[in-house]
Amino acid sequence: MVGFWRQWIARKRVCLPLGEGAELRQLTLQDVPALFELTIRNRERLRRWMSWVDHVHTEDDTREFVRESLRSFRWGRSLQTGIWLNGQLVGTIGLFRTASAEPEAEIGYWIDEQAEGRGLVTRGTRLLTQYAFEKWQVPVVRIRVEPENIRSRAIPERLGFRLRGEIEEDWADGTRRTLLVYVMHRSDFKGS
Ligand SMILES: CC(C)(COP(=O)(O)OP(=O)(O)OC[C@H]1O[C@@H](n2cnc3c(N)ncnc32)[C@H](O)[C@@H]1OP(=O)(O)O)[C@@H](O)C(=O)NCCC(=O)NCCS
Repeated sequence: MVGFWRQWIARKRVCLPLGEGAELRQLTLQDVPALFELTIRNRERLRRWMSWVDHVHTEDDTREFVRESLRSFRWGRSLQTGIWLNGQLVGTIGLFRTASAEPEAEIGYWIDEQAEGRGLVTRGTRLLTQYAFEKWQVPVVRIRVEPENIRSRAIPERLGFRLRGEIEEDWADGTRRTLLVYVMHRSDFKGS
């Protein structure tokens, strides 16, 4: 059964073209070594914004993350994609349903330093926003970002998300963070 599921997901995994030799491809267990290596290589610069990186110690940690994301994909609750550029994994963009009372999806992302500045994350975020509206039929997609994270804020702003407000959140690393919440409503979405 496990073997069948692996083969099925390898054939059926979500692939979305980004143009110019790039694509979003759903992460599978085959991608674990590449994702682990990329995470460790970027750990220092990611740490400031993404405290989960300090919980990634071995390939098994990355494997558990991918396995869990495949499980929740089956329930329509998450879609974790890798950003591939000329066949190399260079980052990830994930879509997941939030725990809020209203049906909402959220997008999170990061990319290798060497692949920044090409619009890959902006284009990928647009595609996953469209995916959430069309496949999951959620009315709202949100992106949460710290006010000082200028590069990250530029993504929802470039795509026409609106600033809904600010929230305070306690993170697992013991810090209290302020996050800006950007939202896109289905009726405001322009696909391209
Ligand atoms: C946040 C992060 C993902 C942004 O990456 P990025 O490379 O700036 O984003 P994009 O891939 O969309 O590239 C945007 C840049 O490409 C340019 N670009 C080129 N072609 C483009 C296109 N077709 N469409 C959009 N932008 C394009 C934009 O002008 C912009 O250039 P600039 O950097 O000179 O302003 C990245 O900095 C990162 O991984 N940071 C660390 C982790 C992090 O903070 N994650 C988010 C936590 S909330």
